[in-house]
Amino acid sequence: MTEQTATLEECVNTEIKGETWEVVHYLAMALKADNEGMTEVAQTLRNIAMDEAAHGSRFKYLAGNIGDLKEEIEKMLSGEEQAYEGKHEGVKTAEAAGQKQVASTLHTAAHDEARHASMLRNLLKRYF
Ligand SMILES: [Fe+2]
Ligand SMILES: [Fe+2]
Repeated sequence: MTEQTATLEECVNTEIKGETWEVVHYLAMALKADNEGMTEVAQTLRNIAMDEAAHGSRFKYLAGNIGDLKEEIEKMLSGEEQAYEGKHEGVKTAEAAGQKQVASTLHTAAHDEARHASMLRNLLKRYF
């Protein structure tokens, strides 16, 4: 039986997924470190997370996954608007489950998504 080697596209996609997961995981570790009073540990973990984000974004860019900038911004705008709605729905679900912190985080994140949407709308208006 011959061993199948991954294509370059599969390698790049694996890297993007791995780096993306690492960003979230390192930032969550940093949050835990902050909450446990270890500020320097938190800062170091955040620095690593930013490196991982840079790796993932470079792979994504090199893979040709970023198209026309105006269309990309419009697509992201639509995603941010949907994320706002979805997170607001999630607040109700979390509240019904008695998960106040999750509900609160969803509420805050929903407003962040709305802010992201308005920033993107502003870019479209000013530059495209
Ligand atoms: Fe990395
Ligand atoms: Fe967002």
